[in-house]
Amino acid sequence: MIINSITCIGAGYVGGPTMAVIARNCPDIKVTVVDVNEQRIADWNDSNLDNLPVYEPGLKEVVAEARGRNLFFSTDIDAAISEAQMIFISVNTPTKTYGTGKGMAADLKFVELVARKIAEVAASDKIVVEKSTLPVRTAQAIRSILDNTGSGVKFQILSNPEFLAEGTAVNDLQHADRVLIGGDHHTAPGKEAMDALAAIYGRWIPRERILLTNVWSSELSKLTANAFLAQRVSSINAISSLCEQTGADVDEVAAAIGADNRIGPRFLKASVGFGGSCFQKDILNLVYICRSLNLHEVAEYWEQVVKMNDYQKQRFARNIISRLYNTVSGKKIAFLGWAFKKDTNDTRETPAMYVAAALLDDRAEIHIYDPKVSQERIYGDLRNLIAQNQLTIDPAQLPDLVKVCKKPYDACRNAHAIAVLTEWDEFKGYDWQQIYNDMFKPAFIFDGRNILDIEVLKDIGFQTYQIGK
Ligand code: UDX
Ligand code: ADP
Repeated sequence: MIINSITCIGAGYVGGPTMAVIARNCPDIKVTVVDVNEQRIADWNDSNLDNLPVYEPGLKEVVAEARGRNLFFSTDIDAAISEAQMIFISVNTPTKTYGTGKGMAADLKFVELVARKIAEVAASDKIVVEKSTLPVRTAQAIRSILDNTGSGVKFQILSNPEFLAEGTAVNDLQHADRVLIGGDHHTAPGKEAMDALAAIYGRWIPRERILLTNVWSSELSKLTANAFLAQRVSSINAISSLCEQTGADVDEVAAAIGADNRIGPRFLKASVGFGGSCFQKDILNLVYICRSLNLHEVAEYWEQVVKMNDYQKQRFARNIISRLYNTVSGKKIAFLGWAFKKDTNDTRETPAMYVAAALLDDRAEIHIYDPKVSQERIYGDLRNLIAQNQLTIDPAQLPDLVKVCKKPYDACRNAHAIAVLTEWDEFKGYDWQQIYNDMFKPAFIFDGRNILDIEVLKDIGFQTYQIGK
């Protein structure tokens, strides 16, 4: 089967970059990305490539090459479904905020809506690919919706989880460690669909890196990969608090254990905590599945990874309050960074917002600078926390208590303390003497990412704190 027309439903952080890279590598395949969000599609079509809705290093170059040639962004979902041979589902699957499984299970309403839309519109056979991270056995739910349309159209359902990390998405997609395709490999049509998708990736990914499995293994592998990665971060963060009490240095411990081939050096950077749309959501999802299957010990084991992460964020905030003489009331705290990691404008589950909430509860005033995150998004994040009762301030007070600055020096001027929440490279090159001169004394700096040269800062006169030192 030769595929020459692909549609992706969902133009977000996964759908946009993934389709851009497929389009670049397969100029003969028409790739259409659709979304219900008209503004998002308009932004993807913006002639100024700096206005793309997703910031990723290298992405605008890929979009510039393929857009209008074989890559299209549209809101006409029906037309895009009709003409595609292969449809990727790449919509959001947040944690449920209501009803059964609230706070734990994945909310599949967007996936279900898309499946129903495909069932309603499709008039020819389609391969439907789950790209969004989904709980194990979601493919079964999609199948049951698609197989009951009565239209005679045949669907093959594949799972093809995305392993890209934000900030390195284009590189991760172009040079993937592996591509996982789960499908019904015991039937001829199932095998044919898997081969068709493998052939697309095979244009640029070495064949031995394309792994074919059954659907359930593929779905569970994605959750497991994220759980293992998050567990490494929580493990080193747990050790960081021990380091602070014992005089050990967490970066030295990480380097020492990471030199062991069996452990490896990556994902051992102690931090203020992990964020992002995937880690917490996927682990809670795993925990929920385990509980539903009466695997309580397994559920508790994984739940601890999230608890440790919450502890790390709270510990960082408490530490700021206690070092500032047990209160931050009326004090100005400058935040450097709001994104959940560097090189992205994504703020979902960013540790910065939880640290901000703890400080705002203690009546601090926060001035934020992030090179890529807009004021609108920062206020949106904090309003969400208020709506979820995780922050108890009057939304009308937000503009007074939280200011978003266009320049880092403005954020830090007249501050009592600076907190580094994201590891943006540019923070390392600032004129720290200048920043110190403009702050209240004693001037505190809390490096939640261990990126600054702390000896230089100490020599200038800063009171410093690093994670795990
Ligand atoms: C993750 C997975 O890496 C990716 O494969 C999956 O497809 C989606 O989820 P992402 O969340 O985009 O990707 O970024 P990642 O690099 O994994 O970082 C997640 C969080 O962990 C960030 O907040 C990051 O700052 C933090 N982190 C990561 C650490 O604190 N220390 C580390 O050593 C690594
Ligand atoms: P991810 O990180 O998984 O890509 P995002 O939230 O960035 O998540 O993107 C998901 C996109 O899916 C959003 O732009 C959203 O508007 C879109 N979406 C959600 N439901 C539908 C739907 N029923 N039809 C089309 N697009 C949808």
